[in-house]
Amino acid sequence: MSFDRSIKIAPSILSADFANFGQEIQTIEAQGADWVHVDVMDGHFVPNLTFGPPAVKAFRPHVKTFMDVHLMIAPVDPYIEAYAEAGADMITAHVEAGPHIHRTLQAIKAQGVKAGVSLNPGTPLDSIEYVLDLVDMVLIMTVNPGFGGQKFIHSGVAKTRLLRQMIGDRPIHIQIDGGVTTETAPLVAEAGADVLVAGSAVFKGGSVDNPRVYGDNIRAIRAAAEAART
Ligand code: DX5
Ligand code: ZN
Repeated sequence: MSFDRSIKIAPSILSADFANFGQEIQTIEAQGADWVHVDVMDGHFVPNLTFGPPAVKAFRPHVKTFMDVHLMIAPVDPYIEAYAEAGADMITAHVEAGPHIHRTLQAIKAQGVKAGVSLNPGTPLDSIEYVLDLVDMVLIMTVNPGFGGQKFIHSGVAKTRLLRQMIGDRPIHIQIDGGVTTETAPLVAEAGADVLVAGSAVFKGGSVDNPRVYGDNIRAIRAAAEAART
C-alpha cells in the first residue's frame, strides 16, 4: 500500500455486533471504511478482554481493505508472531506495555507486517523519539484504552500537532483512537492526523440490515475531517 496523508476512516469492530463479525466487516467496507481496526485487550494492560489470534484469523477473510490490529496487551512480544500469522496487515504495540519497545517494534517488522507504536493520553511524545524510524504509524490515544464510547481527551490535539512536526516528511501515519466524532475529528485532522479510528460514532444507529447508517456515519466523519484540512 502506498503512503499518503489523505483522511482514512478505520471503524473499530469493538462496537460491532459480536455475533456477526463477518457481515459487519463486509458491510462497513461496502459503506466506505478505509481500514478495519481490531482492538485486542488482555484484562491486564487494560481492564477488558477481547480477541485472541484465532478470532483475528476468523476476521481476516472478510477484510478486503487493511486490517489494523491494536494490541493493548502486556507482555506483547510472545504474541506478535501469532497475530501476524492470523493475518494482521499492521500490528500496533503500546510504548507503556514493557521496557523494550524498540525490540518489540523490531519483532513486528521481522514478521513482514507494518509496525505501529501507541501512546496513552498520559505518556509524553519523547518516549518514541528514538523509535520513529522503525514505525509506519504512531497511534495517539484520546481516551484511556479499554472501552469504546468514552469521552475524547482534548490534550491529544496539541500532542498530534507536535507529533506532526516531529515526523517531518517521514512516511509515518498519525492515527487517533478514542472519542472520535464529527465534532472531534476536525480538531485532530487539522492538527495533522490522517487515520481516524471510530467505534461508536460509526456503528451507532446502524446494522447489517440497515447499512446506509454506517455509510452516513463514515461520510460525516470524513467530511468533517476533510473540511478542517482546507
Ligand atoms: C479503546 C479502543 C478504541 C475504541 C474506540 O480502548 O482502542 O478503538 O474502541 O471507540 P470509540 O470510537 O467509541 O471511542
Ligand atoms: Zn483501538
